[in-house]
Amino acid sequence: MRIATLTSGGDCPGLNAVIRGVVRTATGLGATVVGYEDGWTGLVEDRRVQLYDDEEIDRILLRGGTILGTGRLKTSDFEASIDRVKENLADAGIDALIAIGGEGTLKGARWLHDNGVPVVGVPKTIDNDVNATDYTFGFDSAVAVATDAIDRLHTTAESHNRVMIVQVMGRHVGWIALHAGMAGGAHDILIPEHPFDIEDVCKRMARRFQMGEKYGIIVVAEGAMPKEGTFVMPEREVDQFGHQKFDDIGAVIAHEIENRLDTDVRSTVLGHIQRGGTPTAFDRVLATRYAVHATKAALRGDFGRVVALRGETVKLVSFEEAVGQLKVVPDHRWESALSLLG
Ligand code: F6P
Repeated sequence: MRIATLTSGGDCPGLNAVIRGVVRTATGLGATVVGYEDGWTGLVEDRRVQLYDDEEIDRILLRGGTILGTGRLKTSDFEASIDRVKENLADAGIDALIAIGGEGTLKGARWLHDNGVPVVGVPKTIDNDVNATDYTFGFDSAVAVATDAIDRLHTTAESHNRVMIVQVMGRHVGWIALHAGMAGGAHDILIPEHPFDIEDVCKRMARRFQMGEKYGIIVVAEGAMPKEGTFVMPEREVDQFGHQKFDDIGAVIAHEIENRLDTDVRSTVLGHIQRGGTPTAFDRVLATRYAVHATKAALRGDFGRVVALRGETVKLVSFEEAVGQLKVVPDHRWESALSLLG
């Protein structure tokens, strides 16, 4: 049997651990593995490399990024290429495709499967917003990076009596902000699921200073929005895939607080630092477990499904469950964080 794999969408720590896991599991069970480069684009353009269970593959467990490269392809371009995709897979003698990616990639994988391509999905994203799985790999590594940054900002904020804003990733959901904010002892956390009132944010900071505290740390997810009617956000640019570019919310909030409180405020955008570097132990293990599970599913012909972590167990779930809707921060998690703020 011959398996193909690819990584698509934004990269994250742990992608290489999946590739390694797929190659080692498949090879051990007598199958061969091909990798397509740069996500769906490489599949459409038939850019593939043979992957062997050798020393090089063995060592990528620790490496961030993806040795196959990744990318995004417009849905319309992808769907228009279905005949080429099928031809390419047939020419290469591929029996199954393991597609590793986030919400967008898994939607593409479902579409391929509905159009007759045998696919198994593996969910990844630092944002942790893929439904049907308790955790995506990449998330724990991103939270570790953000927490380390917050730890460091505490000391400089305290030295200068400043409010520090830390902008983390999360265009639709606030998982990174919530976890890093809790782990880093932030004094306020702003997430897309709950639009914020800048007056309340300022009140919380002002109260800290009145109580004799010298500084404040606010963690804001890039997709956080002010409550309607509180203040107007500047227009955001949109990239070629229709995704809004988020490089400003931290600076906007810093400006608003400075105006209202007469306090020194600084903003730090962590950006792609959260996506780079070596995966944490948790992410290496999760990515490897997903790889083993997905490969075995592909080898026994269990297609049209996505691997997912449910409690302690890795399971196979339907594409519908995985991509139907995003996994947002539930109210009970938000409420328990709220009681620690201020
Ligand atoms: O991987 C998801 C994500 O990290 C989002 O939180 C972020 O907005 C986006 O990717 C940015 O990706 P890029 O800069 O690669 O378009």
